[in-house]
Amino acid sequence: MGDNMDLPIICPVCRAPLTWGERRVTCPADHTFDIAREGYVNLYRTSRRRSNQPGDTRDMLLARRAFLDAGWYAPLSDRLNACVQDFTQVEAPASDTWQVADIGCGEGYYLGRLMQALRASSKEDRYSGCGMDIARDGVRYAARRYPEARWCVANVAQDILFADGSVDVALSIFAPRFSAVIHRIMARHGLLLIVMPGPAHLTALRDQAMADVRDTGHKVQQELDKLLPHFNLVDQSSLTYPMTLKQPDLQHLYLMTPLYWRSTREARESIKNTPTMDLTTDFIILTLTPKINT
Ligand SMILES: C[S@@+](CC[C@H](N)C(=O)[O-])C[C@H]1O[C@@H](n2cnc3c(N)ncnc32)[C@H](O)[C@@H]1O
Ligand SMILES: [Zn+2]
Repeated sequence: MGDNMDLPIICPVCRAPLTWGERRVTCPADHTFDIAREGYVNLYRTSRRRSNQPGDTRDMLLARRAFLDAGWYAPLSDRLNACVQDFTQVEAPASDTWQVADIGCGEGYYLGRLMQALRASSKEDRYSGCGMDIARDGVRYAARRYPEARWCVANVAQDILFADGSVDVALSIFAPRFSAVIHRIMARHGLLLIVMPGPAHLTALRDQAMADVRDTGHKVQQELDKLLPHFNLVDQSSLTYPMTLKQPDLQHLYLMTPLYWRSTREARESIKNTPTMDLTTDFIILTLTPKINT
């Protein structure tokens, strides 16, 4: 990987710029983070080693990878890629290189495919991608599969380890987000794409899981209330399509969502023994740009 992969990431200790070397990532004050064999770096610092890994569990990540690999959410990924490609045709990056960040990247599917699409559509290699997630297993799977981007284990709740105004395109897909923090890292003309479930998302599965059916329509408004002090809403669209899922895809979908954890044992058994289910997606895609001077 060449210099074009330089990233505006900052040191979790002193917030100075980090330089990505062969074996380690360092800051001018010599805070050093080893690059793991798979190519990712761990910037998540805890005062005490927890026995439990934070973020999504390995089982959830493996189920998600299997489900995504089967292509069921490829239309969502393609839609996001098209949005970013349209954007890069009309805007210019804040630096020489487009800096793309996936905040809560999981096992890397969306950023991995986006980087591949951007590189395939342009002769110039002017795209630099970085995925961050607190789940180390997710970041490890991402790094192993998608060398087109950099991957970091990091907590994005209080701070995101990017320099101010350095990110041109940010993705936040089914992940927790903190608008003021995202606003700080976004370039003035940057693009923030958010994906969240809409009111009709996977209702058949939610019903059979007998999990509390939350009012997701209301959730979109709650999300906008948090975002709009910092961002302008450019577009809100939904992506809806049917899926007829058989096993094991159905079980993978169930395991990769929080639904599984909210279900009773009876519901878990019943879904495991369901051979096929007709479902509908309802992805809400929010397109936002940062407000200036907030
Ligand atoms: C539902 S998953 C979505 C993953 C990925 N964007 C996708 O759609 O495939 C939510 C992700 O957010 C991560 N996450 C949760 N809290 C986080 C935090 N404080 N900092 C970074 N990542 C976090 C989880 O580990 C998990 O991978
Ligand atoms: Zn430092």
